[in-house]
Amino acid sequence: MKPVLVAGELNVDLILTGVDGLPVFGGEILAQGLCKTPGSSSMICSMGLAKLGTAVRFVGRVGDDERGRYCVDALHRAGIDTAGVIVDDTLETGLTVALSSERDRALVTYPGAIAALAADDVTDAALQGASHLHVSSYFLQRRLRDGLPHLIARARLAGLSVSLDPGYDPDDMWGTDIGEVLPLLDVFLPNEVEACAIAGTDHVDDALRVLSGMCQTVVVKTGAKGCIGIDGEGIVRRVSAFLVQAVDTTGAGDSFDAGFLHAWLAHRPLDECMRWGAACGALSTRALGGTPAQADTAEVRAMLEGIAA
Ligand SMILES: Nc1ncnc2c1ncn2[C@@H]1O[C@H](COP(=O)(O)OP(=O)(O)OP(=O)(O)O)[C@@H](O)[C@H]1O
Ligand SMILES: [Mg+2]
Repeated sequence: MKPVLVAGELNVDLILTGVDGLPVFGGEILAQGLCKTPGSSSMICSMGLAKLGTAVRFVGRVGDDERGRYCVDALHRAGIDTAGVIVDDTLETGLTVALSSERDRALVTYPGAIAALAADDVTDAALQGASHLHVSSYFLQRRLRDGLPHLIARARLAGLSVSLDPGYDPDDMWGTDIGEVLPLLDVFLPNEVEACAIAGTDHVDDALRVLSGMCQTVVVKTGAKGCIGIDGEGIVRRVSAFLVQAVDTTGAGDSFDAGFLHAWLAHRPLDECMRWGAACGALSTRALGGTPAQADTAEVRAMLEGIAA
């Protein structure tokens, strides 16, 4: 089986649980639990794909530090090819601290190496023999963003299909350059907020229409509501979310991407790919962190059959 190539960011999540309120400057609050997990959209999606049995090759940059080694080790233990991960001693690997209460969570991120990957770091050898290129966090991966059209052109020449999950723009600028990237993709996987911001609309249905005029296949993730997709013929599909007792939705969108791409690469119809995505998204919420509860194919099939019954 040809591997999926993920060109992405690597970051660690540190989740402090049972936090009752937010700290104030000069004060201190106590957490009841602590959990360290692989973070970052690209890593969560990669590990989700690997859990489903899809071969993955990762290209990224980490610092020569404990967090960088933690990320590479997590990828490696998931069976992911990490030969393309560059350890750069001029960088520090990033960290997100999540303060998690029963009501909500607050995040503080030190981006560190997140923006450091360049399109040229993706060598011809990395593209060679891969089936598909997936990129996440368009707005966070500042260096990769500049070279992305050229990287996609190289990927296409090497015979790869291409997907993009834009992620949120922390500067809330969104920009117009993503409009040049959309026509180059096979699949675009924003969430509702991202889709509306990029399309310049207030409603997800309008956003879907606008984006589908620019990109082959668009699927918008709508959290606990599910997802909406549109294929090349303009046919709109809606898939409801699966009912789960969600513990933590961190990375549900990235696990969704993994499930969707796993089915899409097996040439399944769009609505089936969306159901695979929705099942992987839902199942990933069963535990704290983006990766600890990611589903294998047996769990996804059981969930899909449950809804058909
Ligand atoms: N509470 C939930 N219950 C069931 N399914 C969920 C829930 N939250 C998310 N999902 C599933 O996961 C998918 C992706 O979630 P969401 O829309 O939150 O993506 P996202 O905002 O990109 O997430 P993130 O960027 O934090 O990974 C949804 O389309 C849905 O199918
Ligand atoms: Mg997302």
